[in-house]
Amino acid sequence: MNQIERRKEEHVEIALREDVRADHNFWDDVRLYHNALPEMDIDDVDTSMTLLGKELDLPLIISGMTGGYRGGKKINETLAKVAESYRIGMGVGSQRSALENRKLEDTYSVIKDFDIPLKIANIGASQIARWSRKELLENVERMIGMIDADALAICLNLLQEVIQPEGEAHAKGCIKSMEIISDEFDVPIIAKETGAGISGEVAKRLIKVGISAIDIGGYGGTNFAAIEYHRAKRMKNWLYERLGKTFWEWGIPAPISLMEVSDAVRGKVEIIASGGIRNGLDIARSIALGADCAGMAYILLKKAVEGLDPAMREMEAIKHELRTAMFLTGSKEIEDLKRVEVEVWI
Ligand SMILES: Cc1cc2nc3c(=O)[nH]c(=O)nc-3n(C[C@H](O)[C@H](O)[C@H](O)COP(=O)(O)O)c2cc1C
Repeated sequence: MNQIERRKEEHVEIALREDVRADHNFWDDVRLYHNALPEMDIDDVDTSMTLLGKELDLPLIISGMTGGYRGGKKINETLAKVAESYRIGMGVGSQRSALENRKLEDTYSVIKDFDIPLKIANIGASQIARWSRKELLENVERMIGMIDADALAICLNLLQEVIQPEGEAHAKGCIKSMEIISDEFDVPIIAKETGAGISGEVAKRLIKVGISAIDIGGYGGTNFAAIEYHRAKRMKNWLYERLGKTFWEWGIPAPISLMEVSDAVRGKVEIIASGGIRNGLDIARSIALGADCAGMAYILLKKAVEGLDPAMREMEAIKHELRTAMFLTGSKEIEDLKRVEVEVWI
């Protein structure tokens, strides 16, 4: 197992074993107004919607997490079964491992065996920033083909890169590379944070380079400072252990990031809300605050590792929670949910 494979495995293992959640989940500070007289029946609720031109039964994607080490294949397979059954989107984790070692391609491409309405490829900003134009075109082509991707997520994970002992914190050139990808490929690009959030100012810069969606990946859920803190501690690397601790609470709270981005893009690109989404009520909260769709990582990872049944049961609960929140706010459709009154207490 090489260094990247080991790192991929450790991220999953630490996320599941240690407490790597942010200290506060800001979705609890978002309250939807109750409608005591919705003039509809629960059966009138329709949760279907369209994201990046693909029809989903629920406004949800399983955020990209894994692949790139042997154990990742099984997790991706379980998540793919869930995505197929519930007709939701699914991303894979950074495909860098497979670009460097073809033997690992199947840990991602396993999701091709399932009829998933929206499949999302994934690569880090620090990688695309460093690649030559030729490498960029070849690698993007390979990543898309590997999973028959309908979209490509560029993962803006610079907090993680800079506090990771082996991190590669390169951002110079990233914007140019995104421009090249959007000019050369038909596949839509999602600019995606991984837990530190996207500001309104960054969103304005992103829409100029031809991306199609922003996944805000705000603070409040899985915390990569915490994950890297635990890794550094195991490696007995005192400096990076300290960095992880110092930056433990770094980032823009997810609902704040969402409101800023929504205000900045004004419908020009689609918005995915992620970072601490735990249930169907959080999905409803995020849509009422301006998202088109939500993204969930840790909660579904945890269940997928337990097995297919727990993962399916979790999705069933999430679906019912979302339907309940829609009924209690008088929202027949996802578009109605976007007009629901919200109180934010952050
Ligand atoms: C174990 C693990 C690995 C992850 N790997 C990636 C990755 O390779 N690429 C990426 O864009 N995001 C990655 N993420 C971030 C998630 O996609 C998501 O943005 C983040 O976990 C916040 O969502 P959550 O609070 O629901 O977990 C990873 C998350 C976890 C838990």
